[in-house]
Amino acid sequence: MQLIDGKATAAAIKQEIASEVEEIVKNGGKRPHLAAILVGHDGGSETYVRNKVLACEACGFKSTLLRFEDDITEDFLLRQVDLLNNDPDVDGFIVQLPLPKHISEQKVTMAIDYRKDVDGFHPINVGRMAIGLPCYISATPLGITDLMARYGIKTSGKKCVILGRSNIVGKPMAQLMMQKRTPGDATVTVLHSHSKNIKEECLQADIIIAALGSPNFVTADMVKPGAVIIDVGTTRVPDATRKSGFRLCGDVKFDEVAEKCSFITPVPGGVGPMTICSLMKNTLLAGKKAIYE
Ligand code: GUN
Repeated sequence: MQLIDGKATAAAIKQEIASEVEEIVKNGGKRPHLAAILVGHDGGSETYVRNKVLACEACGFKSTLLRFEDDITEDFLLRQVDLLNNDPDVDGFIVQLPLPKHISEQKVTMAIDYRKDVDGFHPINVGRMAIGLPCYISATPLGITDLMARYGIKTSGKKCVILGRSNIVGKPMAQLMMQKRTPGDATVTVLHSHSKNIKEECLQADIIIAALGSPNFVTADMVKPGAVIIDVGTTRVPDATRKSGFRLCGDVKFDEVAEKCSFITPVPGGVGPMTICSLMKNTLLAGKKAIYE
């Protein structure tokens, strides 16, 4: 079994980005600028956004964090989105999700100019990805395909089971794995909370991508010997031995599955660091106007 080291891979990619940014700036180009909007004080979102700002520093990007309390109105937030859409210094921006219940995530996502949508959540980017046109690809699926490419994992003709059908992981992951390219060219099955015969389907899989948010869901008896296991789960479970009071738990029962598979991503240190790194890749593309004018 080979451990897929997302932390080291992400660090290497960020280093590559930083070198490119310094080259751009040296030649008189613009330093890429990512802005992030954070509404409220959700613990997970605070951590993600802090890590995104730190990643910007590591890549040599300019970053701006706009923080608002969770009692702001939807109209106010939409006005902030519009200000960023029209700010020529901002190359790309994200609105950290989840948003408070009284604000429509869909309305806010659709208000973002797709040319600055480095999260790849806008329907124009989602649609362009589905038909294989250049676009911003959402960060977690992009990070997973980068890991597969860097570890030389063969996907062509393989049977890939994706557990979970979320808009930001399961659905785009399925699109990427079935596309006519490498990594891709796989036969894809998407399983979710209403699927039948989950164990039997998983046992057929050469690649399992678990993105359910259900700790330890994938057990050794569901895994074909030699399968590739990608664990997207990051559920916070209480742990009194940690200073934070919690630890991150993946969707895969790591210890028993690791003994059976060919490659596996750990939690933490697998897919998680790659997600932020993909956002940096998208921001570099935005800074270079590589996809849209
Ligand atoms: N919340 C959880 N993951 C993400 C992400 O990739 N982007 C944004 N904007 N919010 C998130």
